[in-house]
Amino acid sequence: MKIRAGFRPRLQVPVSLGDRSYDIIIQEDLLQEAGSCLQQAGLSGRVGVVTNPQIGKLYGRQLSQSLKKAGFPSTVIVIPEGEQAKTLKWASKILDELVTGRFERNDLLLALGGGVIGDITGFAASIYLRGMPFVQMATTLIAQVDSSVGGKTGVNHPLGKNLIGSFYQPRLVLMDTATLRTLPKREWIAGLAEVIKYGMIADRSFFEYLERHMDAILRMETEPIQFLIKRCCEIKASVVGSDERESGLRRILNYGHTIGHALESLGKYKKLIHGEAVGIGMVHEAALSYNLEYCSEEVVHRQRALVRRAGLPDQLPSLKISDLWGAMQHDKKVVKGQVYCVFPKDIGQVAVLPLARTSVTAWYRSSKRGKGNAPPGRGLHESS
Ligand SMILES: NC(=O)c1ccc[n+]([C@@H]2O[C@H](COP(=O)([O-])OP(=O)(O)OC[C@H]3O[C@@H](n4cnc5c(N)ncnc54)[C@H](O)[C@@H]3O)[C@@H](O)[C@H]2O)c1
Ligand SMILES: [Zn+2]
Repeated sequence: MKIRAGFRPRLQVPVSLGDRSYDIIIQEDLLQEAGSCLQQAGLSGRVGVVTNPQIGKLYGRQLSQSLKKAGFPSTVIVIPEGEQAKTLKWASKILDELVTGRFERNDLLLALGGGVIGDITGFAASIYLRGMPFVQMATTLIAQVDSSVGGKTGVNHPLGKNLIGSFYQPRLVLMDTATLRTLPKREWIAGLAEVIKYGMIADRSFFEYLERHMDAILRMETEPIQFLIKRCCEIKASVVGSDERESGLRRILNYGHTIGHALESLGKYKKLIHGEAVGIGMVHEAALSYNLEYCSEEVVHRQRALVRRAGLPDQLPSLKISDLWGAMQHDKKVVKGQVYCVFPKDIGQVAVLPLARTSVTAWYRSSKRGKGNAPPGRGLHESS
């Protein structure tokens, strides 16, 4: 098929949540069509665009122009860059701007940025006048495959990440794949860990697609990137659609995160960025799964090979097993003192099962014996 010059294929994913359903639109150079997308979604009023200085400088003008062209007056609300701005204090500053700017309940709040901007903006939208419409323009890979879909919004507390928040669905999610090209390489690669996660938890053929197309993905070719974003959104939308408030199935999205979160917190959030920790977490949760005889060695090897090809780290940093276990106790998936972990049973299939300290110790010893965290040999498994 010959593609017309200037023609940009548009992919769309519906998120079905009854009267809170919305669409995700994925397109190269979508930013310049943002205003008309809002119109087509039946939205109206003034738009408060929340962003940070870095992203605002790159994309703020283009977005404001597109909004203006479609008849939406807009005001830009800037908060500082980074996770340290995801606080109640900065959420409150956003609310100050809304109050002093006399924003009304039918006006809009639009998040222009990654997961940090999306989470805090959604949270502010959920509490201003008891809820105002909210739109996401996701500009990082993590935001496009994960954080902008599902309706979890919130801010951090000094004592822990994401402790304050609400479930609040956006009215529309826009993803301009061209914005990914300005992402720092490390952020881009870290996002690929979450992409591999979707293949592992729900779709073997998607995992195999990633195995076949990893080179083109790393070259940032438009077609595979659009496809992978669409597939990740479809999987997340279907999981969230059947378990909006994380009482059951949604927990499978935490694959790689039991060990991943523990590594992030042991490194005081300075050594590894989130996706990197999840990549290492998936490699070692699969090894644990193999050690517990839940999956074959092939699962461990294929996943590890893909993680490596994506350029993600796969080695467990040197740490004490007691520290790792201690950090795992603080995980959100701990229920009444019992740690739960998402274990792969095959590629594309997982189970959420309790995890005992003895299993972790056995896996850890065998992985040390295998040198360099190689997939462990069985036999050291101590029953729980
Ligand atoms: N709500 C959810 O379901 C959910 C899911 C996953 C993660 N999260 C949250 O998302 C956050 C992480 O999100 P993130 O990984 O997108 O990080 P981020 O929002 O901090 O963005 C990463 C960095 O990239 C910059 N940036 C963003 N877009 C850019 C672009 N197009 N070009 C150049 N630079 C750009 C940002 O300024 C920042 O420095 C965490 O706070 C996490 O808790 C939420
Ligand atoms: Zn994650």
